[in-house]
Amino acid sequence: MKHLLKMLDLSKQEIVEILNLADQLKYERKHGIAHPLLAGKSLGMIFQKSSTRTRVSFETGMYQLGGQALFLSSRDLQIGRGEPVEDTARVLSRYLDGIMIRTYAQEEVEALAQYGSIPVINGLTDFCHPCQVLADLMTIREFKGKLEGLKMCFIGDGNNMMNSLIVGGLKTGMSVSVACPVDYQPDASVLEFAKQAGGFEMFTDPKQAAQGADVILTDVWASMGQEEEKQIREKAFAGYCVDQQLLERANPGCMVLHCLPAHRGEEITAQVFEAHAKEIFEEAENRLHAQKAVMVLLMKD
Ligand code: CP
Ligand code: NVA
Repeated sequence: MKHLLKMLDLSKQEIVEILNLADQLKYERKHGIAHPLLAGKSLGMIFQKSSTRTRVSFETGMYQLGGQALFLSSRDLQIGRGEPVEDTARVLSRYLDGIMIRTYAQEEVEALAQYGSIPVINGLTDFCHPCQVLADLMTIREFKGKLEGLKMCFIGDGNNMMNSLIVGGLKTGMSVSVACPVDYQPDASVLEFAKQAGGFEMFTDPKQAAQGADVILTDVWASMGQEEEKQIREKAFAGYCVDQQLLERANPGCMVLHCLPAHRGEEITAQVFEAHAKEIFEEAENRLHAQKAVMVLLMKD
């Protein structure tokens, strides 16, 4: 593994290696065992979109590993004034040991990796959110003791989260069902992968998708950059709310996860959110551990 650009690039073995190291780092942190595995290293964090979890977990994660993280808002970088990503990649590679980038186009992240000479980590694009999905898989494994054989269900938009969860779930031996309106399906490359992998079902009816699920996930209806479509999307996604009635279709003890930020009363009811807050905030914490594992695997000498 040279970069973390998308879940499609990872093998099952690589995913399991990340999750195992994440568990170990979480254990060590809980028990006060220091792990300065990236002492003297610097991570640049380029943000073209807002963030709470990604920024804070990468920044503190890098500090806990003995290194430092630089917050690079695209508003302040020359990239925001049109300097090509190909040049930015070659310059930053001379100063840093790794780059995390949150942006719109997946192609920009791929170009950064292609032109730079240091590891690149995708901190969310319109296409995917691999860091979040690694934390989600870690959380499911933590609560259920396994991934293999479980049924994952995603209700909502065929966005970055749905794209990455389908791939991450199938690669780790879960079956995956999704429910989305016909105009909001996942990316064609993901559907192609899912067809080849098997164990995937897509519905327009959330009730059908939720049948026998062990974990139900959802996400906002309008992602960052889609704010102007908010009203159209609210209409399109009416009936796609994760509520108590939907959970009754799932297996007993079904987990509910949400990458956050959540819009209560839209994609999830306040009741379901609070009933599953323990899982959801463990999931948020696991961003830290999963990303530390990714950085160690990519950046350690
Ligand atoms: N889930 C997630 O990526 O959160 P942020 O947008 O706050 O980073
Ligand atoms: N789909 C959401 C995820 C936020 C973490 C977005 O892209 O805004």
